[in-house]
Amino acid sequence: MAVYHPPKIPSSEITPQSVYTQRRTFLKLAALGLTTLATTKYAGAAALNSSSSAYMLDEKLTPQKDVTTYNNFYEFGLSKDDPSKLSGNFKSSPWTVTIDGMVSKPATFDLDKLIKELTIESRVYRMRCVEAWSMVIPWDGFPLAALLKKVEPLGSAKYVRFETIVRPDEMPGQSGFFQSLDWPYVEGLRLDEAMNPLTLLAVGLYGETLLNQNGAPLRLVVPWKYGFKGIKSITRISLTDQEPKNTWQIANPQEYGFYANVNPTVDHPRWSQATERRIGEGGFFGANRRPTLPFNGYADEVAALYTGMDLKAHF
Ligand code: MTE
Repeated sequence: MAVYHPPKIPSSEITPQSVYTQRRTFLKLAALGLTTLATTKYAGAAALNSSSSAYMLDEKLTPQKDVTTYNNFYEFGLSKDDPSKLSGNFKSSPWTVTIDGMVSKPATFDLDKLIKELTIESRVYRMRCVEAWSMVIPWDGFPLAALLKKVEPLGSAKYVRFETIVRPDEMPGQSGFFQSLDWPYVEGLRLDEAMNPLTLLAVGLYGETLLNQNGAPLRLVVPWKYGFKGIKSITRISLTDQEPKNTWQIANPQEYGFYANVNPTVDHPRWSQATERRIGEGGFFGANRRPTLPFNGYADEVAALYTGMDLKAHF
């Protein structure tokens, strides 16, 4: 793969602060449980505060600084610090998301209206990147199922395909001679995976509106799958009866599949997936590595989705 190194621009010179203000205020309130929406949502606060809830974890949060500066977002370059440094010109507001394909009520939604209408929940998820590092992130968002229900998927719909916006003028990694991937970035889920209550569309993290580097203003979070399934800056969602080909699968089908379920027993062709490095805890090797869990620790919630499937073949 060609290595693309866009010019370095200090983010202080290019970040338009005002863009975030309105959404951020709302999210702060939601994260603190100060909006009626956020409080009524939590069916039993006790369950949420317990480490046994799939929506909360008794694990140390990854520092916000690491979550917002150690990123993969190839539209803004290949290095982990490129997205935070080079995404300042990206305009995430106003924003619409179009849902089309096999649905009774295709529609284009204004995101600010959606955020007011749907319940924003705060959830802490363990995240595992295919590159064998992990984080624990407090997300704010709404279940993808809540959005899909609005458009009424047809009985014939079997998959959901997601697309990231294409804006080469604002996304330096989408233009230039050394193209890294085909754009738009595309991802997909089976419809039952998409409807699983764990599957979140995030609009914030740490109680603040998503920063551009984390996929503003709307990104997918599927905590039992490798991080590349978590497509950022989503502008289109299409229901289909064909398994969508995702960006990394197209780029390298030997190494990346459609399912991408976290699985310590199925190695990546170039490295083991048995253990992982928790970002923010220091140490590349040995003592600081921890075992990777099947389905990233969410087996109770999702293993049944794959009954009878050979997960070595469907990696
Ligand atoms: N979405 C788009 N549009 N482009 C990308 O390059 N990278 C993916 C995923 N979503 C990517 C993307 C990968 S490889 C990972 S690990 C996660 O975003 C990283 O999310 P984070 O930077 O918020 O931790």
